[in-house]
Amino acid sequence: MHPLESGTLITCLLRFKGFGFVFFLLHAQNFVDRTQESLELERELPFVISFDAADGMRFAGVVSLHTINTHNHCAEIGYWMHPSMRGQGIATTAAKMITNLGITSIGFRRIEGVVDTDNIASQKLLIKAGFEREGVLKKKVTREDGSQIDMVVLAATSDTWKEMES
Ligand SMILES: CC(C)(COP(=O)(O)OP(=O)(O)OC[C@H]1O[C@@H](n2cnc3c(N)ncnc32)[C@H](O)[C@@H]1OP(=O)(O)O)[C@@H](O)C(=O)NCCC(=O)NCCS
Repeated sequence: MHPLESGTLITCLLRFKGFGFVFFLLHAQNFVDRTQESLELERELPFVISFDAADGMRFAGVVSLHTINTHNHCAEIGYWMHPSMRGQGIATTAAKMITNLGITSIGFRRIEGVVDTDNIASQKLLIKAGFEREGVLKKKVTREDGSQIDMVVLAATSDTWKEMES
């Protein structure tokens, strides 16, 4: 994982032929712009996930700790993998690494994942990374189509987190 720097993500994204160029350039620029502000305000800690493939380092996705609350020593985890890089366990490793950094180095006492009940891949990923399923938040999120959906909460806490070996 690499800390996100201005320009890095855009460069990585443009290496992917599968992306729609215009949408993703604007999307990436917006993401990077917001990232700088989030870092300054200690709101979000974002990383690029890269993968050491046979033909060199490849951009695989992004992972971050967001919704940071320094008073309560809490943050929320978020991630997105490029479709061509899914299903290889890279996202699980990245989630484990950022959670380990958050709990053992930064000092968060709770890192939570709030996941759409339909998003089985994301729930499996967090369980495999060491999170515990805590329950369901009913009617938590309004989708674009207007439906009100439940979300599953999973968390890793400083009491139970097993430090990763380096
Ligand atoms: C969620 C996401 C990051 C998972 O990425 P991934 O590369 O498949 O993750 P991993 O390879 O580490 O696999 C995680 C687990 O999910 C499982 N999985 C992957 N896709 C799945 C699917 N469509 N249905 C059910 N399980 C699935 C994997 O098999 C693995 O479990 P296992 O090890 O027990 O077999 C990816 O699907 C994604 O980017 N989705 C869009 C963004 C998103 O949903 N972000 C999370 C918001 S809470």
